[in-house]
Amino acid sequence: MRFAGKTAIVTGGASGIGAAFVRRFVAEGGAVMIAELDVERASEFVSELGDRAAYELVDVADADAFAPLAETTAARFGGIDILFNNAGIGNYGLTPDLDIDQWRRCIAVNLDAVFYACRAVIPHLKARGGGAIVNTASASGLAADYGFTAYNAAKAGVINYTRCLAIDHARDNIRANSICPGPVDTPLLTAGVDAIEGLRSEWERIVPSGRFARPEEIAAVALFLASEDASGVTGAAVPVDGGLTSHTGQPDLRDVMAAAQA
Ligand SMILES: NC(=O)c1ccc[n+]([C@@H]2O[C@H](COP(=O)([O-])OP(=O)(O)OC[C@H]3O[C@@H](n4cnc5c(N)ncnc54)[C@H](O)[C@@H]3O)[C@@H](O)[C@H]2O)c1
Repeated sequence: MRFAGKTAIVTGGASGIGAAFVRRFVAEGGAVMIAELDVERASEFVSELGDRAAYELVDVADADAFAPLAETTAARFGGIDILFNNAGIGNYGLTPDLDIDQWRRCIAVNLDAVFYACRAVIPHLKARGGGAIVNTASASGLAADYGFTAYNAAKAGVINYTRCLAIDHARDNIRANSICPGPVDTPLLTAGVDAIEGLRSEWERIVPSGRFARPEEIAAVALFLASEDASGVTGAAVPVDGGLTSHTGQPDLRDVMAAAQA
């Protein structure tokens, strides 16, 4: 019961990584406010979770959404201890072709939203004597992907902004860390991947672990960072990527060497 008596706000908490976090956070004694665009799914999920879960319709790109959300959460559950900024959207497009509105929306949902949420919630964390912020960045924030212009920029921004939060608020007893997933089996990725024949197997070939992660594997690391077990960890960007960002990208010489020696 790591989270007994604790309250978390989780953005994008009705699907994928966010939902896996919420499910386990509630199972381990915590209360959760889910901030979601998909209120149909959020409503169904909350009714399954019981009294220690609630949801609000929030577009995380709306700068004015988080102050009322924080007030509602504190009023309902008595305070806020943890903020999991997890909502995100993908985006593909090379620079000359990328529509300016698409760039702006990608940066707004993946990066601006993290600032808006932290700005509104940090005073509530301080009122509790401290707390934890976990931000979902990406392996795509640690290095670049071909054609992933806006997403790469946004997620790299999340990683360094998280470091700012960590040092600025360390003396407030607030920790801030980011997680950097590689490919994860969630609707965000799989809807696109499985529509293109051969893409999943190519992706699996590139990841050293040979597979996509399950959302629960990513949530487990976010839960650790949100918990007191991580009391000494702040400012970290933790890859949860099956080894993806440990590889330089150079050719796999094992087959070549074996063939040469044969
Ligand atoms: N799936 C992957 O392979 C992968 C890899 C690296 C990072 N990530 C990141 O993980 C996070 C979670 O993604 P997921 O894979 O679980 O995807 P998902 O699509 O399953 O869940 C994302 C949730 O966020 C919600 N959401 C989207 N835009 C929103 C908005 N503007 N306001 C409020 N809610 C919004 C969606 O309704 C959805 O419920 C994202 O930040 C994503 O960039 C995912």
